[in-house]
Amino acid sequence: MTHVLDGNAVGDRIRDELSDCIDTLEDAGVTPGLATVLMSDDGASETYVSMKQQACEEIGIESIHHEIDPDAPAAELFDSVDALNDDPAANGILVQMPVPDHVDNREVLRSIDPLKDVDGFHPENVGRLVAGDARFKPCTPHGVQKLLAAADVDTEGKDAVVVGRSDIVGKPMANLLIQKDDGGNATTTVCHSRTDDLAAKTRAADIVIAATGYPELVDGSMISEGATVIDVGVNRVDADNEKGYELVGDVEFESAKEKADVITPVPGGVGPMTITMLLYNTVKAASLQHDVDVSLP
Ligand code: GUN
Repeated sequence: MTHVLDGNAVGDRIRDELSDCIDTLEDAGVTPGLATVLMSDDGASETYVSMKQQACEEIGIESIHHEIDPDAPAAELFDSVDALNDDPAANGILVQMPVPDHVDNREVLRSIDPLKDVDGFHPENVGRLVAGDARFKPCTPHGVQKLLAAADVDTEGKDAVVVGRSDIVGKPMANLLIQKDDGGNATTTVCHSRTDDLAAKTRAADIVIAATGYPELVDGSMISEGATVIDVGVNRVDADNEKGYELVGDVEFESAKEKADVITPVPGGVGPMTITMLLYNTVKAASLQHDVDVSLP
């Protein structure tokens, strides 16, 4: 029987433990706060940001929201980040990506105070992760690690293939998998759009993590019997329904499920874990900034 991982259930367990951490912070007079900044009118980005705000509200994290017209000069976004860097109520700051083309996204990531960078995308935090001294692990790869642990999938000594080399998922995922640490010690290959014979690489893997943004790129023929398959993709594809679209992952679920021992669905797999780990990083940021010890899950 294939084990279909339930990201909502694992996420809820972690959120319960984070609730206790928030109580500890409150006892010390600290209410954690997360600031989101949105400079986009893309429907999916708006939905993601409102899901993040709602998750904060549910768990007792204050949420602050700045919305910037996508046609406004880049300076407006930088002024907003500067104000949040100086605002003690904002323990974490997240600028939803992508930003418009006229805004330099690397400059945006560098502008956030590294102690408030709950995405873990600031070069200082990227460097710390690579060096094995992570402060804020990027939310999606960290969520994948937690899901693997919850399913008792040991990564040590395993062959892992990460399909995708984005700064948000692929690169930090590979970096976590190679660390000499729990959830690491995997022999890790990173594949991407220029990889020759992708199927041969994924077929040789014990663990396949797909994060490409291409709907159903990885199918059952590319998976070995008994593998673990983690699908990070969330793609809108045209569908004959009320919304006019449906969400599919980067993995063709039905055929991959025939081969895999462990697999994540879309939706309901990695997605809820990403938001959970954002809450985790916000609690960690508040704890570091106020020097209050909490026992993070
Ligand atoms: N856009 C897509 N994923 C993310 C994420 O994890 N963080 C931010 N800031 N933007 C994103």
